[in-house]
Formats: sequence, C-alpha cells, structure tokens
Amino acid sequence: MSDNKTFAPSSAFQAQAIAGAELYAKAKADRLGFWAEQAKSLHWHKPFTEVLDWSHAPVARWFDDGELNVSYNCLDRHVEAGLGDRVALYFEGEPGDRRVITYSELTAEVKKAANVLINLGVVKGDRVAIYMPMIPEAVITMLAVARLGAIHSVVFGGFSSDALATRINDADVRVVVTADGGYRKGKASALKPAVDEALADGKCPTVEQVLVVKRTGEDVTWTEKDHWWHDEMAKAETEHMAQAFPSEQELFILYTSGTTGAPKGILHTSGGYLTQATYTHRNIFDLHPETDVYWCTADIGWITGHSYVVYGPLANGASQVIFEGTPDAPHPGRWWEIIERYKVSIFYTAPTAIRSFMKLGREIPDKFDLSSLRVLGSVGEPINPEAWLWYRDVIGGGHCPIVDTWWQTETGAIMVSPLPGVTSLKPGSAQTPVPGIEIKIVNDQGQEVPRGEAGLLTITEPWPSMLRGIWRNPGRFHEAYWSNFEGQYFAGDGAKWDEDGDLWLLGRVDDVMNVSGHRLSTAEIESSLVGHPWVAEAAVVGAKDEITGQAVVAFVILRLDQVEAAGAAENISKILREHVSKDIGPIARPRQIMVVAELPKTRSGKIMRRLLRDVAEDRPIGDVTTLADTSVMSVISSKIAGGASD
Ligand code: WTA
Repeated sequence: MSDNKTFAPSSAFQAQAIAGAELYAKAKADRLGFWAEQAKSLHWHKPFTEVLDWSHAPVARWFDDGELNVSYNCLDRHVEAGLGDRVALYFEGEPGDRRVITYSELTAEVKKAANVLINLGVVKGDRVAIYMPMIPEAVITMLAVARLGAIHSVVFGGFSSDALATRINDADVRVVVTADGGYRKGKASALKPAVDEALADGKCPTVEQVLVVKRTGEDVTWTEKDHWWHDEMAKAETEHMAQAFPSEQELFILYTSGTTGAPKGILHTSGGYLTQATYTHRNIFDLHPETDVYWCTADIGWITGHSYVVYGPLANGASQVIFEGTPDAPHPGRWWEIIERYKVSIFYTAPTAIRSFMKLGREIPDKFDLSSLRVLGSVGEPINPEAWLWYRDVIGGGHCPIVDTWWQTETGAIMVSPLPGVTSLKPGSAQTPVPGIEIKIVNDQGQEVPRGEAGLLTITEPWPSMLRGIWRNPGRFHEAYWSNFEGQYFAGDGAKWDEDGDLWLLGRVDDVMNVSGHRLSTAEIESSLVGHPWVAEAAVVGAKDEITGQAVVAFVILRLDQVEAAGAAENISKILREHVSKDIGPIARPRQIMVVAELPKTRSGKIMRRLLRDVAEDRPIGDVTTLADTSVMSVISSKIAGGASD
C-alpha cells in the first residue's frame, strides 16, 4: 500500500463538527446511558424506562417499554416543529425528470398511502413486499408500511421473478407494491411482468392485492388483484394519525445472502434500529440538516438504502437527493452533474463506483463544480488506499474527510467508522468502532489476537440496531452468528488492528462473495447452476476483480448426454451465465464459467474453493495435500491453461 500518511481534520472542520472526542469517553463511561441519551433524540409517544433487556440473548430488547411511531419520527414531528417547507427529497430521474418534495408534502403523501394500505386490508404485523425502482413512491411506501406497524420486505428491482417469489413466500406477504416499470439508461424497463410471473399459477398464495405505480406508462397485463396507485391515492382519506407501537415492533425484513442455500430474512425492529440509524447518520456524516444536502447512491433494495436513504436521513430532517438512474447514462459525468446541480455537501457511495470512475480518468469529474462537497463516505467493501486517495483528491478537492463505514445488513447501522471531526484519517482503514460499539478481533478459539495479526471480527456487546433474528428461523440465527464464539456476534469478516490500533477489514472469511458491494452466496449461485439440465456439479468462487472487488467465477461439470441431446456444443458458458442472470438477477451473472471434468474435494467431500480461487485468480495452486485425489488440480489447471475455459 501507499505510505502511512494520515489526514487530521482541519481546525475549521473540527470547530463546527457535530461529534467531538467526548462521545468516545461518554460511551465508555456508561454505554447503556449513552444509548439511552441517543434514543431520547427521537419522539417517544410513551417514554421508555428500560434501556436493554439481554435476558433472552442473543435476541435483544431495547427500550422495551417505550412506544413510538417510526414514520411519525421521520415526518410529522419535523412538520410540527415548523420545518414543513424544508426539502426532504430532490428526486432526479432521467434528465429533466425532477421532483422536489418538502417534508409537508412527503408527510401528506405518506398519510394517504397509509390509508390506501388500510383500504387494501393491511394491519399491524402484516408483511408488504416492495418491488420498485428508486422513485419517491418507494420511500413513501416504506414509511406508510412503517406507519401502520406493518412489516416491509423490500426486494431489489434487479432481482428476478423467482427471487421475488421466494422472498414473498418466506414472509407470507399479503400485499405487493410495485410499478409498471422504471427507467434504465434512457429506456423504460418493465417491472410488473416479474410480479405477474411470481404470482402466476398460484405460486404465491398469500398475496391478496398488488398496488402498481404508473411510472413508464407502458402497457401492462392486469389481474383482479391489481390496483393503480394513483386511483387509490385519489380515493384515500388525507388524514392519518400515527399510532404508537412498542419499541420492539417489527419494522422490516430484508433478505441477504448467507453461506448456505436460501437467502436469510434479516429482521429489524423499531426503536433501537431508528436510534442507531439516526445517531450514526448525524455524527458520522456530520449532518447539519439546516444547510447540508446529502446524497447516498444506494438503492432502497439494500440495507444502505434503508438506513441511510430512508430512516436515518429522514429522522434527522435532512434534505437529500434520490436518483433513479445509473452513473454513466446519458454521459459518464452524470453523478458529478447532480452534485453540482443540487450543491450536494455529503456524498456516500461504494468503492466499486469510485474505482470505475478512477479508470475513466479525472477529466470527467474535473468538468463539474464539486466545491459544495464537505464529507465523503464509503461503504460495502474495503476501499483500497489508491481509490481512497483518488476519492479525496479528485472528488473531495483534497479537503473533504472520508468516512469508511463498516457494517452489515445484520448490524442495521454503521459499526466501525472514523468520526470526521475527530479521527486522523488513514486511507484504506475503517479505523474505529463508533462510540457505543464494542469490537474484538479473535482467533479460531475466540482469543483476542495481538495488533498486527489477522483474525475474525466479533461484536462483544449488544447494540440497538442489531438484527433480532432471521425471519422464522431461530435455529439459523444462532448457528450463523452466535455459535462460533460464546456470547459474541460473529460477523463473517476477517480483520486486524494495525500497530496504531486502527482497524482494517480483510474481506469475508466464509462463502459469501462481495461483488460491487453486493452480497452473493456461492451456494445460491451453485444451486442455480445445478438447476440447469446440463450441469451435474458446480462450484462458485469470488475471484479478485479490479473494479467490482470480487467477480463470480464458476466451475461446472457438464452432463454431456444432456448437452449432446440439446445439440449445444457452443456457447455453453454463455447460456449458463444467462441462466443464472435470469434465475437470480443480473448481479449474480458469473464473469466466467469454466468447464471442468472434476472438482477438487476433500476426503469428506467438501469442495476446496481455496484452490479454485487460485485458478480463477491465475495464481500458483496452494496446498493440495488434503484432497481426496491430489491430481485433480493439475488436470483442472492444465485444461484451463489449454483454453478450455470460457
Ligand atoms: C462488507 C452493507 C470493508 C463486509 C452495508 C460485510 C465492508 C458485508 C465495508 C456486509 C467496509 C461492508 N469495509 N468491508 N467499509 N462495508 N463491507 O450486508 O464484508 O450488504 O460483512 O451490508 O460487506 O454487506 P451488506
């Protein structure tokens, strides 16, 4: 890596910073008191007296006897405080397609949408799936669901109909909210057909109603379950009083990839989640809601979109940009143009995006006025020091602090990050657990490792926004996170403290891949591949990729009789790549598929992915002595070298 230069906050930044060094001291002195103080920045219809009940560990209960309404906290209370005219959302769609929505307007829309959902029969505790593009109605729907004490399950619009159906069925969803389509690179891209396909032939028997936003105006097939959003909104009552719900009321389920088979429905609840999302958003991004314009580029289909587009920023009364498009359309300066237009001051994105801009060269961002920026954030994967420095110099004009934030769908909110007015920043390192969070790096036996040594990241004390479980699967919840080390949460990430005591993330230690900051499981893609009639066996690895961090590389053993019967000697890997894309979604499409005769297995039959990763990354093959048949790897690598791959 580059030299170990650090960047101290400027005295001007420090002087105006929301968070000072005293936060660390306060949290150390009285951790629970500290969290209680953070929670009190929210509006509680009924104040809590208990902070944490850990007697049912590892299922935490935070602020258990308190009652609040999450949607009220994000909306009504700002309007009641006289901030109704403040802009909540600057929506930017295709060029020229813009909407500015104030807190008063957003509140009014959410109230109506809540009434629409009531009219469709939604009651407290019901599950509502949201399968939508990045448009204001998506945010409105999430807040409307939350307002009723119902539970949303947002499914990323890039997922296939199969992936949608699996998620709908796992949660017994009653209502689906979608759109006819969205826009991608200047073209309408349909969404409704995927919902129709998911629901066809009684595949999702629990779904009673579908609410459809008209976005593109393209033709759609209509069923008796379907209702147009605009019709229902026009009919709905405008007033809706937010009712108080217990702090532990379920707020949402969000599916994410784990090490095995089906995705896990990560469950989050209300009071603790909102507390930590709000606290981290304010302190880590140094949010001054009166003057800042914030922009997080994440889609609401991911946890970052939940905590740092919807709940954190809106609970803090922030003004923010939401953007439907892609960074490179209609021109590669699109993002920078948006920053210039709205005078964005806080910008939060992923390293994969930064690396792809870096590759295009600084000429593109240099054409735009980015001088409004004052804080930059990074999330989703480790940011390499080169990309960090480029981000700081080229986008941040050499003066913006960068907060590299480590967290997970499961943690609900940021867990490790510098504080921009306090920490001397070190490129590539996420540095410090946020005040109130306790982290240890341990070896396989659960003992802390010394500085400089790599180990496994664990969280040793409960935190407010922690997951409360995996939807309907308590066994898997225990097994995945709490069975490795007694009483400690195992994150699945490798990490180390450096000599200065700064934390470095070293990537996943399990079979979860991270492609462009999106989590994918090797098992999920393998099961898609073996679902194809031509594939007998498959092994998937995440191989290093310059832009996307990791890329999916699959090794398959073919069922030759089937391939022959189909008369398909050519394009096999192309067809299989498309199959995965259709099955799961384009983000899961393998970069490369290698056809092999055998897979490297241990004597107990476990596939040794480590060796396949060596092949995929074009490295010398590592230790093969535990293989059942030690010659397999030389056969595979000579065949690959001989051009048998894709
Ligand atoms: C990885 C995204 C290094 C990590 C918020 C984690 C990171 C997984 C960082 C969670 C970071 C996220 N540095 N690695 N700043 N942020 N990760 O659930 O491996 O989509 O376990 O949540 O992303 O991904 P998830």
